[in-house]
Formats: sequence, C-alpha cells, structure tokens
Amino acid sequence: MASIVIDRFSKDYPEFIACLHTFEGLSYSEKRRLMDYKNILLEIEDGIAIITINRPEALNALNRLTFSELDLLFDQDLNQIQGLKGVIVTGAGEKAFVAGADITEFSSLDDAGAMELSARGQRIFDKIEQFHLPVIAAVNGFALGGGCELAMACHIRVASESARFGQPEVNLGIIPGYGGTQRLVQYIGKSKALELLLTADMIDGQSAVVLGLAQYCLPKDEIIAKCKSIILKIAKKGPLAVREIIKAVNAYYQKDIDGFDAEVRGFGLLANSNDFKEGASAFIEKRKANFKGS
Ligand code: COA
Repeated sequence: MASIVIDRFSKDYPEFIACLHTFEGLSYSEKRRLMDYKNILLEIEDGIAIITINRPEALNALNRLTFSELDLLFDQDLNQIQGLKGVIVTGAGEKAFVAGADITEFSSLDDAGAMELSARGQRIFDKIEQFHLPVIAAVNGFALGGGCELAMACHIRVASESARFGQPEVNLGIIPGYGGTQRLVQYIGKSKALELLLTADMIDGQSAVVLGLAQYCLPKDEIIAKCKSIILKIAKKGPLAVREIIKAVNAYYQKDIDGFDAEVRGFGLLANSNDFKEGASAFIEKRKANFKGS
C-alpha cells in the first residue's frame, strides 16, 4: 500500500489526491516516512511552533498537498513536540498570508470530488480549531477564500497593516468550502458576513479589528512578536484549564454538543486536578502558581 503512495507522489504530484484515502489509512510512522513537508516550514522558537505556508510563487494558495501537511501537523506531528506552548500560522513572502484554495486544482473537480474536497478541508480546519494549545494566525497579507478560512480556524488573529481579508469565491461562481460561510457569521454577525460573502469585498486589518474578525492590527514586522507574547502569556496559565476553555468555547458552535454541559464537565474535571490545587494554594500564599498540567 505504501509503495503505491510513494510512486504516485513522486511521479505525478497532482495525482497525489487519487491516493488520499490510501494515505489516510496508513499508520503514523508510514505517513511520516512518506512526507517531508514540502509546502510548509516548521520552526520552533521559544517553545512555539511557527508554521509558514510556503508557496510564495502562488501567494501560498492551499493545494491538496498543503492540506495533507496541515493535517499531519495538527493531527500528529505537533503532539510529538515536547513542551510545546502554542502555534503561530503565517505565510511566506511579502504579499500573502494565503490567497485561497489553489484555483488551478478546481478545474478537474466533479460534484462528488468537490464535496469530498470541501468536507476534508473542513475536517482539517476543525482540527486546528480544536487544537489543545493556542493557535494564532499572523495574517501578513492577503487572507482570501481558504486563507481567510484558515485564519478563522485559528483561535486568535493578529493582522498586519497590509492584511486583506475576504471571501471572493462568489467572483469564481462558487461558495466558500472550508467553513467560511459559518465562521465568518460567528465572528462578525450575519449581515456583515453576508455583505462580504456576496460582494467579495476585501477588508483591511484595521477594519477586521473593528468588526471583531482580528484582535490586533500592527506593523508587519511586529505581528510575530505579538503572537509570541500572547502565547507566552497563556503558557503561564494552567494547561488543563487552557485545553478545557478551548473545548468549551468551541462547544458553543457545535450542534451536537451542549456548551453549558461541556463547561460543567470541564469544571468538574479540573476541580480534581493538581493544577487547581496549586492555583488556589498559590493565590492564598500570595505567590505565582507553578502549574504542571496534571
Ligand atoms: N490559486 C492559485 N494561484 C494563485 C492564487 C490561488 N488562489 N492566488 C494567486 N495565485 C497565483 C497567481 O495565479 C499568480 O501566478 P502566476 O505568477 O503564475 O501568474 C501568482 O499567484 C501571483 O498572483 P497575482 O494575481 O499575479 O498577484 P496580484 O498581486 O496581482 O493579485 C490577488 C493578488 C490575491 C488579488 C490575486 O492573486 C487573486 O485574486 N487571487 C485569487 C484569490 C481568490 O479568489 N481566492 C479564493 C480561491 S477559492
């Protein structure tokens, strides 16, 4: 099975999609052998993973391989990094965070293939949203279509002054496929989301902050430092509490889970933790808590 994947992967890159199911069936070590990241740079700085989508010649458009690499990262590889504090997602080059899904891969799609592509993209972005550590998008330029959807799957967005957010799919006669119609409504409300989705208008970083889509808009050379400082601040809190907050907040938007129940469960779980005992003792003893994540 593995050799089929290698053959197609190395001989005919666009055909890689044909064996995605096969790939998904492989074990972690088999997948890892087959895949060195080609479209993603992964660096670790100060215990923080910086993931750079690295296809600047195509404004970092998300092709299928890039999705596979994001999947492997958030599903498995990031969990192997000892002491990881959080993740920053950004784009290579001067112009773009991510300028969307790779449009050149759309031409060969039939309706079933398109639905599969969309559902797969949603599953992968859900993994980012559900990641147990903070994931922050450093939006350094165009964040369009799938790029805006990727940024929205992250927990927090720090935009540069040159950032441009938008869902221009309607210009192509299609709709967003990776959660854009849902998360944009969650962040900025139905009316404004409908306006952006229907007109394909772009908004800049400052407007994104005003609308609640981004949390900060800063000069470009300051955004990674800001992302790091947010992650390092969160890293001082109780890791189990951070994980349960992400879960409970996400539960608000999940139709099959009651968010209030998720909060009750998380609260109960943490009440018995050493971290909670340590946090409460530290408060009473007027010292800084030393959380162990247990
Ligand atoms: N998919 C594939 N290739 C893309 C791409 C995408 N989503 N976005 C940009 N590119 C490629 C361009 O085709 C071009 O390649 P080329 O040099 O081989 O011709 C290269 O990236 C640079 O883009 P270009 O359009 O020349 O840059 P620009 O500064 O004039 O315009 C944008 C920038 C972002 C406004 C423009 O590229 C654009 O509209 N991209 C598509 C955005 C979109 O519709 N996204 C949603 C997809 S569903």
